[in-house]
Amino acid sequence: METVVSGIRSTGNLHLGNYFGALKNFIKMQQENNCYFFIADYHSLTTHPDPKSLHTNVKNVLTEYLAAGLDPETSAIYVQSDVPEVTELYLLLNMHAYMGELAKTSSFKEKARKQPENVNAGLLTYPTLMAADILMHNADKVPVGKDQEQHLEMTRKFGRRFNNFYGVEYFKEPAAYNFGGELVKIPGLDGSGKMGKSEGNCIYLADDPKTIEKKVKRALTDQGPSEMNSVKPDYIENLFTILNVVSTPDTVEFFEDKWNKCEIRYGDLKKQLAADIIAVTNPIRERILDIQNDEEYLRRVSIMGAERARESASKTLREVREIMGFKPF
Ligand code: TYM
Repeated sequence: METVVSGIRSTGNLHLGNYFGALKNFIKMQQENNCYFFIADYHSLTTHPDPKSLHTNVKNVLTEYLAAGLDPETSAIYVQSDVPEVTELYLLLNMHAYMGELAKTSSFKEKARKQPENVNAGLLTYPTLMAADILMHNADKVPVGKDQEQHLEMTRKFGRRFNNFYGVEYFKEPAAYNFGGELVKIPGLDGSGKMGKSEGNCIYLADDPKTIEKKVKRALTDQGPSEMNSVKPDYIENLFTILNVVSTPDTVEFFEDKWNKCEIRYGDLKKQLAADIIAVTNPIRERILDIQNDEEYLRRVSIMGAERARESASKTLREVREIMGFKPF
């Protein structure tokens, strides 16, 4: 059985990008692997969340993980900060992570541009913390969207470097869990490249049907193509990308055909798209409403998950410390 590690930052509610990037096919994933799903609350600290909302954010992601169908009996579902071993592994890995390579990471450069007043060391070492999350369980596979590809590559690099430096074959090289296809990037409905919390263009799993219909209706379109088989502009391609993940192949083909023949009616496309998104999100939304106030259940799940995660984490840390030469008196 292979080990899978998957994380989502606790910076807001789960959206379609998270769902199709990191959770897709999670039932099969859980049945076939030893899975760890966690809520990356340490990672969320780079943007200094209000202490009053930190716990609520964590609770929302935990609730939505469970509502989406993650099974706490099969998988370890835990909060990152409940597993302190991760911070020690992060420190140890940081000794072999170099300023130059960290500063060159795309996500760092982007954040440094967006928040020049807060370019903190946590932002710089974000990829080492992520590597610690993954290497801590010696993961074989990591389900991620396209935007996390570079971080995963750095995790492999840090693991290899550790192995080479200490002359061991300790860390495995974690591969992206791509569900047999390409890594996905779910676009925003505002014509932008990526659906994301900081982009403010998300369809959330917790959105009610009316909100989803409204958001889809507002998506950018135009008068339609005037030439048969023309290339779609990005904002139209985006609608088709989402249609591809939520609708049946027949539906996608139907609208592709209409596009190619210049017969597309965006009103119809949007109606279908909204209905198919709602078919995915609505059962999840209903379970969110059921679970979100069940404090006792959430507490039980998080304790159980942390116990399982700490078991694996403390073993790794013991072995890593030994490899590095730490010895008790
Ligand atoms: P985060 O919280 O930004 O996103 C969580 C997961 O959702 C995927 N994702 C997307 N996939 C496709 N299209 C999108 N528009 C989209 N938006 C988000 C992300 O690729 C990710 O898989 N650094 C991570 C959290 C993390 C982590 C880890 C992940 C920390 N440690 C260890 C895996 C393993 C992050 O910020 O993801």
